Formats: sequence, structure tokens, C-alpha cells
Amino acid sequence: MTSSFSLRSAALATVSALFAERTIAGAPADKCPTRFAWEDAQLTDQVISSTDPLLFGFGYPVDTAASASENGGPELPNCKAMPGDASWPSPETWALFNSTLGGALIETVPIAAPCYNNWPQRDAAACEYVTEHWGDPRMHVEDPTSAMFPLYQGRTCLPTDDPDGSNCTLGGYAAYSVAATNVSQIQLALNFARNTNLRLVVRNTGHDFNDRSIGAGALSVWTHKLRDIQFLPDYNCRGYSGPAFKLGSGIMTEELYAAAEENNVTVVGGECRTVGIAGGYIAGGGHSPMSALLGMGADQVLSLEVVLPNGRFVTANEDTNPDLYWALRGAGGSTYGVVTSVTIRAYPKIPNTLMTYSYTTSPNVTTDTFFASLGVYMSYFDRITAAGAYGYFIVVSIGPDQYLFSMMPLWGANMTKPQLTELATPLLNDLAGLGIAITPNVTEYPSMFSAFNGAFPAAEQVGAYDNHAASRIFPKESFEPDRLNDTLAAVRHAVEGGGVLVGYNIRAAPNPAVNQTNSVHPAWRRTTGFFILGASWPANATDAQIQQASETLTNDWMARWRAVSPGGGSYASEGDINEPDFQQSFYGDHYPRLLELKKKYDPTGLFYAPTAVGSEYWYITDQLPWIPTQNGRLCRKK
Ligand SMILES: Cc1cc2nc3c(=O)[nH]c(=O)nc-3n(C[C@H](O)[C@H](O)[C@H](O)COP(=O)(O)OP(=O)(O)OC[C@H]3O[C@@H](n4cnc5c(N)ncnc54)[C@H](O)[C@@H]3O)c2cc1C
Ligand SMILES: *[C@@H]1O[C@H](CO)[C@@H](O)[C@H](O)[C@H]1NC(C)=O
Ligand SMILES: *[C@@H]1O[C@H](CO)[C@@H](O)[C@H](O)[C@H]1NC(C)=O
Ligand SMILES: *[C@@H]1O[C@H](CO)[C@@H](O)[C@H](O)[C@H]1NC(C)=O
Ligand SMILES: *[C@@H]1O[C@H](CO)[C@@H](O)[C@H](O)[C@H]1NC(C)=O
Ligand SMILES: *[C@@H]1O[C@H](CO)[C@@H](O)[C@H](O)[C@H]1NC(C)=O
Ligand SMILES: *[C@@H]1O[C@H](CO)[C@@H](O)[C@H](O)[C@H]1NC(C)=O
Ligand SMILES: *[C@@H]1O[C@H](CO)[C@@H](O)[C@H](O)[C@H]1NC(C)=O
Ligand SMILES: *[C@@H]1O[C@H](CO)[C@@H](O)[C@H](O)[C@H]1NC(C)=O
Ligand SMILES: *[C@@H]1O[C@H](CO)[C@@H](O)[C@H](O)[C@H]1NC(C)=O
Ligand SMILES: *[C@@H]1O[C@H](CO)[C@@H](O)[C@H](O)[C@H]1NC(C)=O
Repeated sequence: MTSSFSLRSAALATVSALFAERTIAGAPADKCPTRFAWEDAQLTDQVISSTDPLLFGFGYPVDTAASASENGGPELPNCKAMPGDASWPSPETWALFNSTLGGALIETVPIAAPCYNNWPQRDAAACEYVTEHWGDPRMHVEDPTSAMFPLYQGRTCLPTDDPDGSNCTLGGYAAYSVAATNVSQIQLALNFARNTNLRLVVRNTGHDFNDRSIGAGALSVWTHKLRDIQFLPDYNCRGYSGPAFKLGSGIMTEELYAAAEENNVTVVGGECRTVGIAGGYIAGGGHSPMSALLGMGADQVLSLEVVLPNGRFVTANEDTNPDLYWALRGAGGSTYGVVTSVTIRAYPKIPNTLMTYSYTTSPNVTTDTFFASLGVYMSYFDRITAAGAYGYFIVVSIGPDQYLFSMMPLWGANMTKPQLTELATPLLNDLAGLGIAITPNVTEYPSMFSAFNGAFPAAEQVGAYDNHAASRIFPKESFEPDRLNDTLAAVRHAVEGGGVLVGYNIRAAPNPAVNQTNSVHPAWRRTTGFFILGASWPANATDAQIQQASETLTNDWMARWRAVSPGGGSYASEGDINEPDFQQSFYGDHYPRLLELKKKYDPTGLFYAPTAVGSEYWYITDQLPWIPTQNGRLCRKK
């Protein structure tokens, strides 16, 4: 019996053990979680009638909404309103909105405004702070409007040491934000935006690769303050009994991991400390160092609370609004409503062993040998993920004909040091056979959070505008012997051309202990390799150079990746804003059903984000090819 076979059996045994935990008949009385207190603070008809029903009234009930607009309902305007339009709410109306919100309305001040003389916030010390922390996600997270990828904001207010050199403008930033602390405020915001034809955006942390949390002239719902986290040790509801967490939608990865550590459990989350777990992460699917063992982030969801486009607040789970439950777990944020909280499954505490190593081309390791070693690693993808392990690695050019491979780390979830060493030894032996001798650092940690702190001690840097990414979820067949060479050649072409490969050896493990019937891209269920590819340009590049680099990324490098991965897809949460045929790439065969649900729940098109479900019916004015921004006006295609 081979060693990888024994690891595979161990993984299967794990899955059966988890399955056994699902209670069936004769379960004790349900103990379903209750809503957070601020979720019980809801908008009432009395508040609406005592203010202005035309501004704050609810939309049509879900099932009648589509037919209402088709059968002589009000005709929908072609474009959303912008400041300066006759229809833009007056200062008195904004003030009424603010007082109805209890003072939670914020008028946007761009985060780098202190660097510019055309803003009253001009302040040299504050500018220095913003400039120094521009790459730190935590600074952006705390701002109501900032987004972490300035390219799509339009680069209209970057930090500068020349306060008169240009004027800072709002660009793609929203006009106003609602700093929501209860459900009523979110309902008011959605009703107000729908009734006054404002563009609406949802902003949590601003991590989205394509800035899908901003929009010129928009009203933004800022969910960052919804930060309650409740551990439910004895959740017992709808067929699952065991530990769970109920998370407000502002909770960030490291906050969840810390709470899991404190309560001796394991959860599924990503590798960036500051991403919003119950915001864009779960909405988009959510990949994790735990995915090869336990499945996707979205698979862990037991129930969600959501404010719908018509302003009504509902629950979505297997029993209540099951179609929404399906759609909110994988198909992306900013599409079907504003999620206020999510309940996810937790698992017993497990050990994790991490292995790191790196190597470069050298007199003994030619470029051909270097890429052959990458092929060798790919040939192990299926074996490694089948054992429940995950690899996070980078492949990059470090000089003319010089390359670096860095494993950071190979993560053995629920593995001891001897178990991970046994799993990795055949791969390391094969690399040694190519003349690449590796002495890996192997460290065992007692829990997920301790391993996470070892692997990712600092928040990942953001804020750059000298690069742009695309991604591909390869089906596992792309790494099988008959297709491996073609896959490797396509990857090599991009890396030799200057692309930065951030690779994940990952699968979405089958996990009978959770509901995996959701809208996660079907390609995740067939993958063992998910690769992000970055194209970059000099900091002083012209628009033409950025366009050229973006076109090469999409139409040359990624075209070759698509060609060698039929049946694969791309991950919209870490995707190319220029992705061709985005519906198929980002949503696969789920698209028709997702679009039908979009029309059911959002018939007036309140929610829009680039590449989101239904976004093909909209465009933004005043765009340059290849560098789409959120600066223009949002209009319906006729
Ligand atoms: C450095 C870095 C590392 C990353 N690592 C991982 C990783 O390991 N695994 C992984 O899967 N992904 C990863 N991502 C991608 C990440 O999951 C997505 O960018 C995710 O969308 C971020 O969600 P957010 O809520 O933090 O950000 P935001 O940008 O605020 O929101 C993202 C999208 O979701 C919408 N949204 C946010 N909150 C809500 C809500 N409550 N209701 C409805 N819509 C909402 C927003 O409108 C926007 O469209 C990473 C991203 C970065 C920048
Ligand atoms: C971890 O492995 C043990 C067996 O070694 C198994 O009993 C347990 O269920 C596994 N835990 C998870 C979360 O997979
Ligand atoms: C929601 O919060 C605001 C601000 O604190 C408050 O004024 C308002 O009364 C709250 N709404 C409800 C329904 O409790
Ligand atoms: C909303 O009201 C609060 C409290 O009165 C105030 O601090 C804030 O500036 C107001 N917002 C706007 C946009 O006027
Ligand atoms: C900034 O705006 C002011 C007022 O509109 C204008 O006079 C000035 O020329 C602008 N400065 C730059 C650098 O564009
Ligand atoms: C977690 O485990 C530690 C050590 O095993 C124990 O001391 C602690 O009480 C546990 N905490 C909880 C919340 O169960
Ligand atoms: C998962 O939830 C869906 C509702 O979205 C339901 O139809 C399906 O039966 C559930 N699957 C399992 C395995 O419980
Ligand atoms: C390179 O190869 C030579 C000859 O096989 C060997 O002596 C030397 O130790 C190798 N160098 C490295 C860094 O592996
Ligand atoms: C191995 O990695 C751990 C965790 O990052 C680190 O503390 C340790 O110093 C490393 N050991 C060596 C020999 O590099
Ligand atoms: C893949 O490439 C290797 C090395 O160049 C070669 O030995 C092998 O025959 C090729 N495999 C296929 C299926 O073409
Ligand atoms: C950018 O800077 C480099 C070197 O600093 C210079 O050679 C190049 O001409 C500059 N490009 C543009 C478009 O200004």
C-alpha cells in the first residue's frame, strides 16, 4: 500500500466521521440562532408614513415585482442619477434622509484629500500618514469609501507630495455612505436609492480586485460596523447539530480566526487577514487553506439574513427562500441584496503542519529544468489535495532568464509533521532527481490560527496601480499526463513574458457534512489548481502602456490558459475585469438560473457591479478600452 493511499484513506475516514455528525431522526428540539439585536431594529410602516413614503417606501413584493413592471408599472429610467442632475435629491432631502437614518450619512471625502490644496481637509501630516499607509489594507478598511485597487477608481486622488500638481476629485468613489449599525438603516438606504433612482453600491472592506464596492454618484451601504460575532457551541437546527458561528457581515478573517482559536474550533476562511468573511468572501465562493479538507467558504453556510432590493428583510436557508440560499453562496456580492449576517459551521480543533521552501534557476538549474520542476509539482496536484493538503506558491522572473519558485506554504490541514513529510517526500525526491535539492522548513502548529499566524503574519499589501490580475480555475485533467505538457507550456509562456503567477494547489473537497448545492462556480468542484496571473507596468506608465499590458494579459497569456483548460473557469472575486464572456467564465453553467433569480429579486436593477450577474444589461459612460473605471454614469443598454 502506498503512502499516498493511506493518506487518502485517512481523508475519507474524516469525511465519514463528519457525515455521522449530521443528526437525522429523533434530534432534540431545534436551537436555531436568533437575530442580532440590531437585526431586530427594522424599518416600520409607521416610520415610513411619518416621513415621506415616496422616498422611503418599500418596493413591490418579490413575486409580483417583475410582472408589475412588465404590465404597465412605472417605466424605469435609462440612467442612474448623478450630482448636478435635476432629479438629484436636494440638500433638504439628503438632510431628511440623514435624520431618518439617525445621523449615519457620510458625505465622501477621498482618503487622500489631505494631500491636495483643492480640499479643505488639506493637512500635510495627514497626507504623510495616508502616503505611508497606502499599501496597508487596514487604513482603507476603516475609511467608508476607499477601494484598494485605484486603477478602477480612476486614479483621481492618489497620494502626492505636490498639493498643487493636480486636483483631487471623487472619481469612482461613491457620493455618500450610510455607516449602517442596524437593519433599518440598510432598508432606508435601499428604499431611498430605488425610489430616487440613485446608483447603489455595497462597501465592506474594499478588497475587491475590481473595486466592485464603489461607483460615481452612488449611495454606498457601508457594512464594516456590523461586527458582532457569536459562538454557538450547541447549534442544533435544520439537521446539523454542533458548533457554529453567527457573523455580522463586517467581520474580517482574522477576527473570525481569533474567535475560533478562543473556542477551540476550526473554521473555513481565506488567507488575507482583513478580507470580509460574510461580505464578498462567502458571497463569491471563498477558497481557503482548509478547502482541500472541508470545501469552500460558501459551503459552510447554514443560514443568512439579507435585505432584499425591495427593502424587505428576510432569512435564507434550506427551508426559507431556498433559491436565495443557493444564490447567495457563490454567485458574488452586490447582486441579490445586502447580507447582514451569516451563520457558518465550525469543526473541532485540528493540528496543521506547514512546509515552506524555495529555489531559483542557477548554474545547476537551467530554465528548462526549472519549468520541468513546475511540471513535476503539477503532476502531484491531485495526490496532495486528495490528502486534504493545499499549496500556495509563487513563480516569478527575477532577472534575465532567472526564475524563482517559492512555496509559502504547503499546508497540511489536520496533519502532523510526519504525515505532511510523508506526503511531500516523493515530490521532493523527484525535484532532487532534477538536481534541485531542497531542505524544507516543516513546522507543526496546534491549531488553525497559530498556523495562519505562522504563514501570514502580516496583512497582504494593497493599493498598487502598476499591475492587474486575471485568474483561472483549471480542471484537474489539465494536470494529467496527456495534457500536462500543454498546460505547462501555457504557464511558462506567461511567466517568461513577465507575468507573476500566484498559484494555489487546491480542491473544493466533497463534504457531506454541509450543503454544497450552491452557486459556487462548478469549476471549483473539478479543480486541483487555481492560478492568479498578474501583468505589471512601470509606475509612470501611460494609459496606452497599461492598455497594452492588459490586452496581453487577457488576449495572449490568459487566452492560452483558457485553451488548455476546457471545462474550467475563472474566480470572479479574484478576476479580470476585462474577462471575455464573463458569464461563462465567472459563473459557468449556473448563469441562466442566476440571471433568472436576479430578475426575480432585483427587477428594477438596484444592484449593479461590474461582471456581476445581470451587469451585461448596463454600461458606464466615458470609458477607455481595457481600463474600465467606476467614474462614469451608470446606464441601461437599450
Ligand atoms: C490581498 C487579498 C487576498 C485575498 N485572499 C483571498 C483568499 O484567500 N480566498 C478568497 O476566496 N478570496 C481572497 N481574496 C478575494 C476576496 O475574497 C474578495 O476580494 C472579496 O470580495 C472581498 O470581500 P470584502 O467584503 O472584504 O470586500 P468588498 O470589496 O468591500 O466587497 C466585495 C464585493 O462584495 C460586495 N459586498 C460586500 N459586503 C456585502 C454584503 N454584506 N452584502 C452584499 N454584498 C456585499 C461588495 O459590493 C463588492 O461587490 C483576496 C483579496 C485580496 C485583496
Ligand atoms: C482530523 O483527523 C482525525 C483523525 O486523525 C479525524 O478524527 C478528524 O475528524 C479530522 N478532523 C477534521 C476537521 O477533518
Ligand atoms: C438604527 O440606528 C440609528 C442610529 O443609531 C437609530 O437612530 C435608529 O433609531 C435605529 N433604528 C431602529 C429601528 O432602532
Ligand atoms: C448626518 O448627521 C450627523 C449627525 O447630525 C452629522 O454629524 C453628519 O455630518 C450628517 N451627514 C451629512 C452628510 O450631512
Ligand atoms: C484645480 O482647480 C482649480 C479650480 O477649478 C483650477 O483653477 C486649477 O487650475 C486646477 N489645478 C490643476 C492643477 O488642475
Ligand atoms: C480550549 O482548550 C484549552 C486547552 O485544552 C482549555 O484550557 C480551554 O478551557 C478551552 N476553551 C474553551 C472555550 O473550551
Ligand atoms: C441544500 O440546500 C438546497 C436549497 O438551496 C436544497 O434544495 C438541497 O436539498 C440541500 N441539499 C442537501 C444535501 O441538503
Ligand atoms: C552543481 O553541480 C555540481 C556538479 O554536479 C556540484 O558539484 C555542485 O555542488 C552543484 N551546486 C549546487 C549549488 O547544487
Ligand atoms: C521555520 O519556520 C518557522 C515559522 O515561520 C520559523 O519560526 C523558523 O525560524 C523557521 N526555521 C528555519 C530553520 O528557518
Ligand atoms: C511531455 O514532455 C516530456 C519532457 O519534454 C516528454 O518526455 C513527454 O513525452 C511529454 N509527454 C507528452 C504526453 O507529450
Ligand atoms: C518612466 O520612467 C523611466 C525611467 O525612470 C523612463 O525611462 C521612461 O521614459 C518614463 N516613461 C514615461 C512614459 O514617462
